[in-house]
Amino acid sequence: MKIAVRGAGAVGSTIGRIWHAAGHDVTFAARHAARPRALAAELGERAHAASVAGAVAGAEVVLVAVPALAVIDALQAAGQLDGRIVIDAANSLERGAFGQQQLSLRSLAGAFPRARWVRAFNSLNVNVMAGDNHREPPWVLFLSGDQQAKPAAARLIRDAGFDPVDLGGIDDSQLQDPGSALWTYPLTRDEATALVARIKSGDTAAADPLTAPFEKFRDHAPDDPAFFLAHLSRAVFEAGIWRAVDAKWDGIREAFHGFDPAQVAAMTPDQIAATENDPRVIRNKAKIRAAVQNAREVLAVLDSYGSIRAYFASFPDAHAASADMRRRFKFLGDTGVWRLLTSASRDIG
Ligand SMILES: NC(=O)c1ccc[n+]([C@@H]2O[C@H](COP(=O)([O-])OP(=O)(O)OC[C@H]3O[C@@H](n4cnc5c(N)ncnc54)[C@H](OP(=O)(O)O)[C@@H]3O)[C@@H](O)[C@H]2O)c1
Repeated sequence: MKIAVRGAGAVGSTIGRIWHAAGHDVTFAARHAARPRALAAELGERAHAASVAGAVAGAEVVLVAVPALAVIDALQAAGQLDGRIVIDAANSLERGAFGQQQLSLRSLAGAFPRARWVRAFNSLNVNVMAGDNHREPPWVLFLSGDQQAKPAAARLIRDAGFDPVDLGGIDDSQLQDPGSALWTYPLTRDEATALVARIKSGDTAAADPLTAPFEKFRDHAPDDPAFFLAHLSRAVFEAGIWRAVDAKWDGIREAFHGFDPAQVAAMTPDQIAATENDPRVIRNKAKIRAAVQNAREVLAVLDSYGSIRAYFASFPDAHAASADMRRRFKFLGDTGVWRLLTSASRDIG
């Protein structure tokens, strides 16, 4: 297929590279020509750099990978996009992970009515797309939008190593938007199909982004306090700085004794002070102290409940669990609980 990729940042370059490796002809376009040129030079044959108008003119499919509120502007130079399949990967995170405003796929279709709009590639983190964990068994990428465009988009999802799950038409795209239960939560086809069926049947608990990861954690988590403390600490350190923590995670794990709760809880004031100056760690005193305090609280949970599994099993639903975790653990807000549960349930099995 001939594909134009508008936006040569993390998502555009990652998916463009993967499609190129799968044999497609990929033309990159961005406001600044340097990055598209570098990508074309890196990939060689079948990869090109062009203006937005030039890239779209020669393409059957256009992937838009720019900030949500820039999508319309970013395509203006390409005219009406007549008949093109346009895959929009944009998410707006400007107001946090929940409750943000977002440019709907419907409004994009209103701005460019002659294009065939699909939303896809927005629902998982770009690091997941770049890595290989999603391939065996394949994780799901959702798509929704124009009926005639979806088969090509589904093929491109498969070519990127994911399993496409169709959520429906243009207005169903909100099911995969930020803050929804399906957004950034890695699922296999069976898990996704079951969850989508629950959501579409009007099950409001299932539509809540906390419910599915809570249920998976409660029902399947390894009964390992270090597993829980590692994910809890990751949520603490990640608050506000997801990407920076990714790069430092191995060092943080080492500095915190592999997240063995007893060893972390026993850290002395001198050892905590040394960690505050340890270049392997995110040097935020409040987060470091929260990690140690949380290890002590994990021991208290084990004392009261016997196991992390029993602690989770004691709650009637995700919100009760979330409220108790926010009360007990430091530096853990709504987003932190959601990060903890989604990342922990991703690492189960
Ligand atoms: N990062 C993720 O994990 C992830 C996952 C799925 C979806 N998404 C969504 O995908 C989109 C791209 O994310 P990203 O992580 O690739 O971001 P990024 O690395 O910052 O890249 C953004 C791209 O958009 C272009 N751009 C920025 N502002 C623009 C504007 N005002 N008008 C036109 N172009 C503009 C930039 O290139 P030029 O300035 O050269 O044009 C750049 O190529 C976002 O909507 C994001 O929410 C992100």
